[in-house]
Amino acid sequence: MKAVVMPRYGGAQDLRTAETPEPAPGPGEVLIRLEATSVNPVDRELAAGRLDSIVPAEFPLIPGWDAAGTVAEVGSEVTEYAAGDHVLGYVRRPVARWGTYAEYTVAEPRMIAPKPDFMDWDSAAGLPLAGLTALQALEAVAVKDAETVLVHAAAGGVGSIAVQIAKARGARVVGTASRRNHDYLVALGAEPVEYGDGLLERVRRLVPDGIDAALDAVGAGEVDLSIRAGADPSRVVSIADPKVREKGGEYVFTEPRSEDLRALTALAESRQLIVPVSAVFPLERAAEAWEAGRTGGARGKTVLRMA
Ligand SMILES: NC(=O)c1ccc[n+]([C@@H]2O[C@H](COP(=O)([O-])OP(=O)(O)OC[C@H]3O[C@@H](n4cnc5c(N)ncnc54)[C@H](OP(=O)(O)O)[C@@H]3O)[C@@H](O)[C@H]2O)c1
Repeated sequence: MKAVVMPRYGGAQDLRTAETPEPAPGPGEVLIRLEATSVNPVDRELAAGRLDSIVPAEFPLIPGWDAAGTVAEVGSEVTEYAAGDHVLGYVRRPVARWGTYAEYTVAEPRMIAPKPDFMDWDSAAGLPLAGLTALQALEAVAVKDAETVLVHAAAGGVGSIAVQIAKARGARVVGTASRRNHDYLVALGAEPVEYGDGLLERVRRLVPDGIDAALDAVGAGEVDLSIRAGADPSRVVSIADPKVREKGGEYVFTEPRSEDLRALTALAESRQLIVPVSAVFPLERAAEAWEAGRTGGARGKTVLRMA
């Protein structure tokens, strides 16, 4: 099969497209023929060896955790899926080796969910990791109706989805982004505010009575700022700064969870959630896709297509 392969830890310059053997599904796994995957900042972290203590890698490493494709084969113990089913998933195993930047990957049923017919492959590939993160983070601080939530990095992959989930729960959402993304945030239903110097004052002007909860997807002081903007520490969740726990808040490291994926596709089906796709690259141009993600300004997800 065709895959992006890394011989050792490294960066975008070390990504190579190569012919490699297909992974073989175990008895409790399915083999998925991928249509698309998506790029997440964590792919670069993993490739650089910065996740080694949480998810060690074996080489040659195929990066990538997002999957959208068709079940090609099912292991003998799998009853929920059959060959030909369209699925999406967050395919993260304890050790990284057979990732999703490839024509085939293997996954356990707990990592995947049926892909609804109305959802195109690009959106399906962009949803799992970012969507699960947004959902699990907002659930960690129990965002509910009529509350005001501050989402930091609201125009990114996670933020774009978090804004919509919080809106679907009836919350008022204030989202930080660079100015070029403010119209985009308005279209998603958020009140945009520019990050950088003076952010706290801008938030206080918009929400004089104080915010109820916050999601930090930046990790550079946003936890403290959110508490100063009025959130009780227990209602601040970070996906970018584990030290949030020392301040009484929640840290979320996203878990593969089929029922959460189904909740996300249900939201999409009820038209409360779209997966904004900002760019699509062929698999062979994964390095360019990584670089595009680093320069900022993206609105939602960057997708890699297998063909
Ligand atoms: N813990 C977990 O399980 C988990 C899961 C997923 C992601 N993450 C982490 O969460 C972060 C976001 O992920 P993502 O997939 O949403 O990334 P992304 O799609 O690359 O988006 C990053 C966004 O950050 C914005 N940004 C940059 N500096 C900012 C600042 N100082 N304040 C506010 N926004 C800023 C950019 O907005 P503009 O273009 O508007 O400047 C961009 O939209 C990453 O650090 C990632 O590693 C953690």
